[in-house]
Amino acid sequence: MADRVYVFDTTLRDGEQSPGATMNQDEKIRMAQQLETLGVDVIEAGFPIASQGDFEAVQAIARAVDTVQVAGLCRAVVGDIDRCWEAVKDAKNPRIHTFLATSEIHMKHKLGKTADEVIVMIDKAVRHAKQYTDNVEFSAEDASRSDWDFLVKVTEVAIEAGATVVNIPDTVGYTQPFEYYDLIKYLKDNVKNMNDAILSVHCHNDLGSAVANTLAAVKAGARQVECTVLGIGERAGNAALEDLVMAINTRKELYDVETNIKTEQLYPSCRRLSQIIGMPIPPNKAIVGANAFAHESGIHQDGVIKNRLTYEIMTPDSIGRTSNDIVIGKHSGSHAVKNKAKELGYTLDDEQIQVLFKAVKDLADKKEQVFDEDVEALILESVYRRKDRFRLIDMSVFSGTGDVPPHAAAVMEFGAKGEAEVKRNSSFGEGSIDAVFQSIYSMVGVAPKLEVYTVNAVTEGSDALASVAVRIAHDGTKSVGRANDADVVKASALAMINALNRMEKAKEER
Ligand code: KIV
Ligand code: ZN
Repeated sequence: MADRVYVFDTTLRDGEQSPGATMNQDEKIRMAQQLETLGVDVIEAGFPIASQGDFEAVQAIARAVDTVQVAGLCRAVVGDIDRCWEAVKDAKNPRIHTFLATSEIHMKHKLGKTADEVIVMIDKAVRHAKQYTDNVEFSAEDASRSDWDFLVKVTEVAIEAGATVVNIPDTVGYTQPFEYYDLIKYLKDNVKNMNDAILSVHCHNDLGSAVANTLAAVKAGARQVECTVLGIGERAGNAALEDLVMAINTRKELYDVETNIKTEQLYPSCRRLSQIIGMPIPPNKAIVGANAFAHESGIHQDGVIKNRLTYEIMTPDSIGRTSNDIVIGKHSGSHAVKNKAKELGYTLDDEQIQVLFKAVKDLADKKEQVFDEDVEALILESVYRRKDRFRLIDMSVFSGTGDVPPHAAAVMEFGAKGEAEVKRNSSFGEGSIDAVFQSIYSMVGVAPKLEVYTVNAVTEGSDALASVAVRIAHDGTKSVGRANDADVVKASALAMINALNRMEKAKEER
């Protein structure tokens, strides 16, 4: 029987450290539920000591999922470990994931510790974590730049102290596949108690080698892979889960291992993350990009028509990408909308179905065909959006030149419904979108710096929903906002208001 490789997903921890990928608690829970459906073995839910918000999100995820293990990250110090346990302990199967750097450069310049002191800290940290649970992982941060014999010692000490998983991260994305293969093999062959723990790998993509390095490590005997959906993560990101799983499945004869992943949930998982963080899937992204199964060249098309296997190494169906996903039209009933939401992995109550039904109908009036992506965008937009403190009521924009520059008028509501204060404003701007932003800033009473503004179409066609993401900075705080609408200017206004609401909420939480 093929060996099992455990999939440890860190989309909600390392992935969330990716610029612009911040998620609020509800969004993290929805992503965690999808990861559970996908069949990952472990969800790393966050870094509980980092902030109260992180702590609460990890705790909420631990309580919201059923079968999957939930890990929290903590440095190798008592206070961090205690806080981590508090956050994960309500999970059915909690894991404490503690880490400490082991490379010369990190020990000397970051930690100010000798190698011996680091060994003592690892031993103490793992033993302390072990008092809470048997499920303890230790990571040797910057392992790929550490001395190999020191890593052997570190791994032995961590296992002796009770670690059931030892992770060997390529923290800075520096290693190369053949070198990483040799390192993992060296540890497998030289760590005396290696059979008492699972060897794990965690690769960053700074040199574009994260997936290749992870696969090389699997070939050398690693049996846990740490990865993120769409490869999001710190700097250039982490190894992409969908790439790893499909490589292992498609080249089964080469790797001779298996995972628990339900591959037909790969595309829905990527799509859900993309919708939540407002980051489109690049068209040339392996496995799930729009072009991944599109054959442009005549020779390829001819071959595929004669026999798909000539140019296709896997099918779109196998990753959950079905071609007939036109779903809802003007005449669909609420039952059809409810079923579609369920099929997309959302269980909605009657009130939420009515909200979604109305949003779908409104969109179907403007757009010829409503696709799965549209329904998912509407669910996130109209059903799950948090109760915002600032809300847009109406707006209009006017383009202009010379003495009549672009201008916008907007009406907004502030505070709880029923007792809300209504404000009106009109402002000029450099362009129509800038004008509407100026109007919003005047009413909210802030002037943030707009750092990032992106527009993408949710589906194809000029009637597609526009998906806008903004990142603003004000008073040392950054905030991301996202919105979808058939009208790009309205989507922009809603995204800006979303960012301002999130900024307000973050301030309150602090
Ligand atoms: O990249 C890294 O080293 C990490 C560890 C904390 C596992 O993310
Ligand atoms: Zn990392």
